[in-house]
Amino acid sequence: MGKIIVGKTSDFTPGKIQKATIDGKDILVANIDGNYYAINDTCTHAGASLSEGSLDGQIIKCGWHGAKFDCKTGNLSEFPVKIKDLNSYKVIVESENIFVEI
Ligand code: FES
Repeated sequence: MGKIIVGKTSDFTPGKIQKATIDGKDILVANIDGNYYAINDTCTHAGASLSEGSLDGQIIKCGWHGAKFDCKTGNLSEFPVKIKDLNSYKVIVESENIFVEI
C-alpha cells in the first residue's frame, strides 16, 4: 500500500502515543526517546484500543486487562496467558513528516 502520513514530528513529543487509522487499520504511533514506532492499536486479547492505555518507556500497557507490549517490536512482554504479538510497521520521517509504511 505504501507510506501514509500520520502527523508531524512537532505533534509527537517524546512519550506521546497517538492512534492513526490507515486504510481501515488502527495503528498506534509512539515517540520513544525521539524515535518513532508504529504497531497495531488493537489489543490481541479482547480488542481494546492500546492508544488509550499507558506508555512506560517502550512498553504500552493495555487499559482493559493490563497486557503489556513492546512498542518497538509489537511483541507481547507480559500477560498471564500467551496472546498474539502485534504487527509492527516501518516508520519513516521526511522533512518533519511522519509516515507509516503498511
Ligand atoms: S483487551 Fe487488552 S488486555 Fe484485555
